[in-house]
Amino acid sequence: KGKEKIYWVCSNCGYTAGQWWGVCRSCTVAGTMKEFHESKTSEVHSKVNGFMVLEEDGVGSWLPQQQGELRPLRLIDINRGLNHQHWRIPLSGSFGNEVSRVLGGGLVPGSLNLVGGDPGVGKSTLLLQIAAMISEGGNDGEVYPVVYVSGEESVEQIGNRADRLMIESDIYVYSSNDIEDILKKVRDISPRALVVDSIQTVYLKGIMGSPGGIIQVKECTSALLRFAKTTNIPVLLIGHVNKSGDIAGPRVLEHIVDVVLYMEGEKCSSHRMLRAVKNRFGSTDELGIFEMSHSGLQAVSNASEMFLSEQHLDSEILAGMAVAVIMDGSRTFLIEIQALCLSGSTGSRQVNGIHASRADMIISVLIKQAGLRLRENAVYLNVVSGFILTETAGDLAVAASICSSFLELPIPNDIAFIGEIGLGGELRMVPRMEKRIHTVAKLGYRMCVVPKAAEKALGTESLENMKVVGCRNLKDVINTVF
Ligand code: TYD
Ligand code: MG
Repeated sequence: KGKEKIYWVCSNCGYTAGQWWGVCRSCTVAGTMKEFHESKTSEVHSKVNGFMVLEEDGVGSWLPQQQGELRPLRLIDINRGLNHQHWRIPLSGSFGNEVSRVLGGGLVPGSLNLVGGDPGVGKSTLLLQIAAMISEGGNDGEVYPVVYVSGEESVEQIGNRADRLMIESDIYVYSSNDIEDILKKVRDISPRALVVDSIQTVYLKGIMGSPGGIIQVKECTSALLRFAKTTNIPVLLIGHVNKSGDIAGPRVLEHIVDVVLYMEGEKCSSHRMLRAVKNRFGSTDELGIFEMSHSGLQAVSNASEMFLSEQHLDSEILAGMAVAVIMDGSRTFLIEIQALCLSGSTGSRQVNGIHASRADMIISVLIKQAGLRLRENAVYLNVVSGFILTETAGDLAVAASICSSFLELPIPNDIAFIGEIGLGGELRMVPRMEKRIHTVAKLGYRMCVVPKAAEKALGTESLENMKVVGCRNLKDVINTVF
């Protein structure tokens, strides 16, 4: 006893092994196996239904057991009896809709949902708000109990947060780390949903390892999964993501749970994104966008346009602005690129939000292939609201903004640009062109400038009243726009 056991876990796919491998044997990515230490606090006696439990006086009997005898069932019989299973717990209001969309249309009864994210990003806030929403029960006016269990905070702390969020629903708050205790108490309440904050702080008695260790994290999650499946109570589980990977993180759990959502946000911005990376009940194509306010998270209504400056939306048109169409996950954003060319100066370049090497390349191509006399110009580039442009799909907008400033000819604010620029000044295709173009059309833009190849690839679907203009190279673009 007290001996340390060493595990190796792949930070990419969660594969666990007893020894180190240079290349993960599961996902075959190299250099991802990380070392974990697990101190043995007790012996494991046996394995029941995939759970390691002690065989002493009924410990483990709390684990929900399978009802009845298990046997293979006919698919037809299953489907006949399961019509009600299409029902999902509704989440209403603009906040609820946003969450619901990411979940694939509401919370599925009996599902285990993991919400991961960096510490401090707002997971506890999100889950408390979701708990309140579930409790309020959509439109039928009825109120349902929901249990929020925290192993991190005291009930007073949660009470304070609920106060701040102005939550007055029928939420039961419980502070505990003992899964066995938690599930026993929760079963008595029979809530409409259970929130556990967080998987790193709960433990299962009789299982070796400390809370947050791989074995505990895995076993606790499995216990929660079985609880969800046998009671049909959906469980929402919070998991901290640790960048350094020294705590068994949500990666390990992704295989066990039904749904994995990640919450992301920049330190300097109040925007928070909720992304589905796994969903057994829906697509992972959805991204929820929220804003963290002083009274909790609010849905952002005009998400596609949140990276455009107010001047832009106000139709006051200045030279040096162009709109790029960027994909983040599966969501499309319009992003404003600003350029300022100062003639008669030393030719310095200041770049903000774009990789300097990419900006250099675009400027050089403009000089060489489009004949712009930028050599004697200082060029400043900026991406509005702190967004970092990583996609080459933004190249064309960067080039257009520089042209606009250099020529001192504003680009009308209902034109958007999509395309990568090659060294010959040619425009190249980027992934998911169609989706980008449709978003632009839906937002009421008049024109979208794209590579020639994209024009052909586009179907005959209606694009509202937008014109899609295919250009072969930068010269084409300049002739079209200015
Ligand atoms: P929290 O939900 O505790 O994050 P996590 O559980 O992911 O660690 O919230 C983190 C931050 O959110 C905290 O710095 C305070 C801020 N916050 C608000 O801005 N408005 C609010 O209404 C609440 C409750 C929190
Ligand atoms: Mg928290």
